[in-house]
Amino acid sequence: MDFYIVNGGPRKKFNTAQLLEKASQGIVDELKRNNDDEEINIHNVHLYDLDFKGCKSCFHCKKIGGKYYAQCPIKDDLRDLLPKMKESDGIIFGSPIYFGDITGELRSFFERFLFSSFVYGGESNAPKRMPIGMIYTMNVTEEICTSLYSSIFEILEGNLENVYSKPHSLKVYDTYQFTDYSKYENYAFDPELKAKRKEEHFPIDLKDAYDLGVKIAQDSLKI
Ligand SMILES: Cc1cc2nc3c(=O)[nH]c(=O)nc-3n(C[C@H](O)[C@H](O)[C@H](O)COP(=O)(O)O)c2cc1C
Repeated sequence: MDFYIVNGGPRKKFNTAQLLEKASQGIVDELKRNNDDEEINIHNVHLYDLDFKGCKSCFHCKKIGGKYYAQCPIKDDLRDLLPKMKESDGIIFGSPIYFGDITGELRSFFERFLFSSFVYGGESNAPKRMPIGMIYTMNVTEEICTSLYSSIFEILEGNLENVYSKPHSLKVYDTYQFTDYSKYENYAFDPELKAKRKEEHFPIDLKDAYDLGVKIAQDSLKI
């Protein structure tokens, strides 16, 4: 079975990456509990290492009878990756929130991943409705996130549901952003409260990420 773990943030060892790692462990452990014969392949994709841009509006993916119908013809680092991901058994995406939204890299990725299987006024033509997980990390608290960002997640996850499947979603709030708060200009966040939150709550977030991975594995066994 093939699973893709996609880090849409630039940092390879911080909040988003650590949560994705736990989610990945959740997938592997749950599959081993249920299905120890089949090979499990976890493919880690770090979007910032890839060379690609967003949708170019060429419409080859919509051209009736066209060579690239339902595919993205752009020749870059997503060319081989997108078809493999569309045939996979599950995908978990992670993104820090940048200015109230997922990162630009993940946004560009979704333009390509979604539009090539999206049908105007019709059923998705994706080859598979694999389970999808979304992990978002952010500085703000749950209250601020709910009042400011909810509609952004709803729109994105609605599009994912339309084309692939309704995502399992985890939002991780009030993250520890800097390695040393004393070295960086910041009037918004109390370093002590941030450290406390990291110590007390981040382990719970990691457990939630692990549980999300378990759900992805369970769903993958149903399709
Ligand atoms: C360019 C930039 C913009 C950001 N904008 C927001 C924001 O709008 N809201 C928020 O809650 N956090 C914001 N953050 C904070 C990050 O989302 C947060 O620290 C996240 O957990 C970082 O993930 P990482 O540790 O995996 O890199 C921003 C960080 C950066 C670098």
